Amino acid sequence: MTNRLQDKVALIIGSARGIGKGIALRFAEEGARLVLADTEVEAGQATADELGVPFIRTDISQMSDAEAAVALAIGQYGRLDIIVQNAGIYPWQLIENTSADDWDRVMAVNLRGTFNASRAALVPMKAQGFGRMLYTSSITGPHVTSPGHGHYSASKAGINGFIRAAAIEFSGYGITVNGVEPGNILTEAIELHRGAAYIKNMEDSIPLGRLGSPRDVANAFLFLASDDASYITGTTIVVDGGQLLPEGNDFRLLPP
Ligand SMILES: NC(=O)c1ccc[n+]([C@@H]2O[C@H](COP(=O)([O-])OP(=O)(O)OC[C@H]3O[C@@H](n4cnc5c(N)ncnc54)[C@H](O)[C@@H]3O)[C@@H](O)[C@H]2O)c1
Repeated sequence: MTNRLQDKVALIIGSARGIGKGIALRFAEEGARLVLADTEVEAGQATADELGVPFIRTDISQMSDAEAAVALAIGQYGRLDIIVQNAGIYPWQLIENTSADDWDRVMAVNLRGTFNASRAALVPMKAQGFGRMLYTSSITGPHVTSPGHGHYSASKAGINGFIRAAAIEFSGYGITVNGVEPGNILTEAIELHRGAAYIKNMEDSIPLGRLGSPRDVANAFLFLASDDASYITGTTIVVDGGQLLPEGNDFRLLPP
């Protein structure tokens, strides 16, 4: 522990489990004061209890929920330095099987949730002249994709566009806006919703030879949240074990 976030107040949305829980644990190790938010009350409360911090049930697709979560952080600590909007859903569904309602739900959580988090955090961050807005994007959408990720890819590519636009608009307020693009990260949700064959396929395509961990992703968030990143805004960090690199099917093929 090096106290890289000493006394910084951070609200982490989508932190009951998986990558978001990894971010919460990592930020806590570095001295941040946390508020956790998630739709899942039992798991979210359990993670918050583990860390001894407040939890609020939040559906980030709803602006009033985003505002309530920000209000809890302000009520608890008097300021809000960092917001991480990590909540995201990734139904595995071909475009031809996707209804308009399916499409809207993915956009509501992943993309409108990003806007809602930003809009709610802007008020206190602008007033205090400091803020770090951070988003979980993905390599899926901005760079690559695979069958069944139409709505998801569109939503994550949209997050990157929003990051750039918000970074410009908030640059005069002392607020930076950045994101992390995870590759394939081994979380309970990936194991449950994608299964062994998908995971094996991804593993084989990763030069570093393994899926990432929530902590791998959390370390990139930590950097972007810390003072070390004070001159970085409007960008994203890829955390993918080199998965974007191969030009062909077999990156292990060497010259004769
Ligand atoms: N796991 C991966 O390989 C991977 C790769 C790239 C990007 N991502 C992104 O990382 C994020 C986390 O993924 P994960 O694998 O940890 O998934 P996860 O399902 O384990 O975690 C997501 C969390 O967000 C919460 N959540 C869902 N909808 C919400 C809502 N409307 N409001 C508030 N909270 C909500 C869930 O309850 C859960 O706790 C997502 O944005 C996902 O798109 C994941």
